[in-house]
Amino acid sequence: MPGMDQPMNIFQALLVSHRTQRELSARLLEAKPATDECQRVFEELKAELAAHETAEERCFYVPLMQHDEAMDLSRHGIAEHHEMDEMVEHLEEVDPHAAEWQECCRKLCAKIEHHLTEEEQKFFPQAGEVLTEEQKLSLARDYEAEFTTLRIKQEA
Ligand SMILES: [Fe+2]
Repeated sequence: MPGMDQPMNIFQALLVSHRTQRELSARLLEAKPATDECQRVFEELKAELAAHETAEERCFYVPLMQHDEAMDLSRHGIAEHHEMDEMVEHLEEVDPHAAEWQECCRKLCAKIEHHLTEEEQKFFPQAGEVLTEEQKLSLARDYEAEFTTLRIKQEA
């Protein structure tokens, strides 16, 4: 991580939420189903994912789509966001007392980890080749502002 005097680039900014998602996923898998704690962690993960996905799409994938060589990775990343959203929506319908709840949580967390790993190991390095250094910094500012605004709207 950069020091206090060094601004983050877009990849470092995105990683902040990736860490939060991993922490929340781990807590969700550890929590006893159908408890207040489990429900709280699920709601927090759902909110974190929603704000991160939207801000990442607006401030990372959409600008990347200007580049022919980044179309496939952008489509793939956004399609996975949609898949995760559907898994979250499905979980909201499942009885937390049912065995299906834990099974669906495991699948969601596995999907999240797959997505984050693919972004970090494959998409970020590819994006790093098409974005300029200046864009990497300005997109980080855009992303952080967007993410913060979305989180505030969720609290309202
Ligand atoms: Fe993503």
